[in-house]
Amino acid sequence: MKGIYLIGFMGSGKTSVAISLSDKLQLPVQDTDQMIVDYTKSSIASIFDRCGEETFRNYESEMLKRTEGEGKITSTGGGIVERESNCDWLRRNGLVFYLDTSWDVILDRLKDDKSRPIWNNNQRDKRKLLESRIPKYEATANYVIKTDGKDPEAIADEMIALINAPK
Ligand code: S3P
Repeated sequence: MKGIYLIGFMGSGKTSVAISLSDKLQLPVQDTDQMIVDYTKSSIASIFDRCGEETFRNYESEMLKRTEGEGKITSTGGGIVERESNCDWLRRNGLVFYLDTSWDVILDRLKDDKSRPIWNNNQRDKRKLLESRIPKYEATANYVIKTDGKDPEAIADEMIALINAPK
């Protein structure tokens, strides 16, 4: 089976769902943001601050390619779909789940968040950003999971049912 990839906007719960899925399936979990932090020995915020978004996106594309492998669960950064080459790569190499979370839930979850550079950039209209990314998430994913009102366990169970469903 191809590796399992979680995509979705900031605050959609990719990290928590990946951990729950990893517990249930007994598969290792990895995270492209964490891989960037480990590789650069810098925080995401500091990469944005010192080198800019383009450099961060270069690291992100590079780390995505390094995640390749069967039997792994990978949580990706919310902007992974900003590059069509990443979407192509995901379609070719992964079993991709889009965690589809409404704007209201995202807003509520991230209201006190100070760690995400894109979220904390006042110049950027985050709702428009979400709307512009939705078609990209949908066009990349094999499965779309509506997450509002569900906890990570329930979402992971829904994913497992889809993975095991007869084709
Ligand atoms: C980003 C999302 C973040 C992180 C970076 C940029 C984005 O990941 O990759 O701050 O462009 O949406 P999460 O989706 O895990 O917050």
